[in-house]
Amino acid sequence: MEFSIKAAAPEKLKTDCVAVAVFASAKLSPAALALDRASKGRISGILKRGDFDAKPGSTLMLYDLAGVMSKRVLLVGFGAQNETAAKELRDGVRGAVRAMADVGISEAAFYVADIAVKDREAKWVTMQAAMTSLENSYRFDRLMSKSRGQRKNLKRIVFGLLRESKVLGAALERGIAIGEGVNFARDLGNLPPNICTPAYLAEQARVLGKAHKLKVTVLERKDMEKLGMGSLLSVSDGSRQPPKLITIEYYGGPKKQKPVVLVGKGVTFDTGGISLKPAAEMDEMKYDMSGAGSVLGTLSAVAAMKLPLNVIGVIPATENMPGGNATRPGDIVTSMSGQTIEILNTDAEGRLILCDALTYSERFEPAAVIDIATLTGACVIALGHVASGLFANDDQLANEVIAAGQTSWDRVWHMPAWEDYQEQLKSNFADMANIGGRPGGSITAACFLARFARKFKWAHLDIAGTAWKSGREKGSTGRPVPLLTQFLMTRAGW
Ligand code: BES
Ligand code: MN
Ligand code: ZN
Repeated sequence: MEFSIKAAAPEKLKTDCVAVAVFASAKLSPAALALDRASKGRISGILKRGDFDAKPGSTLMLYDLAGVMSKRVLLVGFGAQNETAAKELRDGVRGAVRAMADVGISEAAFYVADIAVKDREAKWVTMQAAMTSLENSYRFDRLMSKSRGQRKNLKRIVFGLLRESKVLGAALERGIAIGEGVNFARDLGNLPPNICTPAYLAEQARVLGKAHKLKVTVLERKDMEKLGMGSLLSVSDGSRQPPKLITIEYYGGPKKQKPVVLVGKGVTFDTGGISLKPAAEMDEMKYDMSGAGSVLGTLSAVAAMKLPLNVIGVIPATENMPGGNATRPGDIVTSMSGQTIEILNTDAEGRLILCDALTYSERFEPAAVIDIATLTGACVIALGHVASGLFANDDQLANEVIAAGQTSWDRVWHMPAWEDYQEQLKSNFADMANIGGRPGGSITAACFLARFARKFKWAHLDIAGTAWKSGREKGSTGRPVPLLTQFLMTRAGW
């Protein structure tokens, strides 16, 4: 989808469709008011009949309005005036994009910057509108034969402005960068595990690196053996797919500035290993590389917007498969940090690859490390599909992440990672066990990781509930790319 921004009177724009906001009780946005005046009160006349309640996301298509140059006018509901907040804005934009796609329109003008959203500026509204438009025109149909795939889609959106603005152009660019980063992450998540292998993730990192001149390094099994990554490699033992440790380095900030390191879980398929998962919905474990996908999506957004900050992505990528050479429950492995781990459940593999990736991150002397992982089913039980779980060893860093979640509307909830929980990870035979029992499952997983994050400020995002949707709308969400990108933007002073 292509976007542009243009100052013009809505009645004078000539396009397939002009979309404007309306609110409950027949209240009009400034752009809707302009169309109403040009059409001598047609819009207010229609609204007076009371057929349209302006619920967020509801739409009404009107045709051939006298005095209006475009063939169609789309009224888009955004709820009660002065009550429109982030959710209503996103619902409204989604409704508009869907309504236009449904009638097969290819080009539209959409007046969003004049919508008053609670506690948000026009810059934010423009950025969110671009992100939400991209999100809702996303299709993953590349693996369908022609007859099923390739539905008609909106090709161009002009964000209409009632008056010139210099800052909104930049906001639009940023929204596009984030939306495309989100959709890149979704593609990676949605690809089947026979295509999206560790080698495929490494290849995608290289493609990204080429496009933006980033340094990309891929370590192979023998390199990781030399580094002593016994924990990471134990997860790969049952798989025919060679593991990869992918590093992508983006230097947009001053040379001496310490980087933010993003570590993404890249399990391209999680069968559970010898501690095999049940059959139902096991296909969804192709999304177990969503942390890795979010790191790639965020780096793509950051590079596209040329953010003045240093950011490094580290992705441990592997499959978790059963097999004659697979790790057994009871095996004890030595991590790169030297700490030994008794693997009591081979399905708790995320922490086993992340711990070595965290230790590896020390070499970048990070300002902060954030790891992102579809780590525990327990987190889905705790927080559902709305908030990602946030754990941190530094409250200021945690607060930064919380704020970025509020701004981007890709929200997190702060969970405890107190020392008191460490007890559950005791092992009779090694420094620690890799599981802590049922109580507080997402917390003990975070506490396991904390043991490998003692040398830097660290936050952990458990995205098991937020990275994808099940059921009818099954698919990757691309979260938390908006959150991570906003976090980095704020750090860069944007
Ligand atoms: N990838 C899963 C976590 C997961 C499960 C994400 C369900 C989304 C939905 C992870 O590797 C896993 O299997 N975790 C186990 C840990 C347990 C064995 C301590 C879990 O959550 O059941
Ligand atoms: Mn698992
Ligand atoms: Zn997993």
